[in-house]
Amino acid sequence: MEPDFNSLMRPHKICLCRSVTREQIIAAVRAGARSLPAVQQATLAATGCGTCFPRLYEVFEEAMRIVADEEAGQRRLEQL
Ligand code: FES
Repeated sequence: MEPDFNSLMRPHKICLCRSVTREQIIAAVRAGARSLPAVQQATLAATGCGTCFPRLYEVFEEAMRIVADEEAGQRRLEQL
């Protein structure tokens, strides 16, 4: 899949208005923010001009996959 305009313009800072990084979004999901509104509340991403919302959505989906994989791995370790 080719990167879109938003991902090219925002490789690290997902939200320029609130200076929110990809890592902060992933950390928010790890800390329990499991919906877009929860991530917005935790990070303030996409609470300014709103143009970052599509990119926030992509990173949120990525973060949910990462955290689901981490939690599945943790459960496998606990079963050993
Ligand atoms: S760039 Fe995120 S709210 Fe403006």
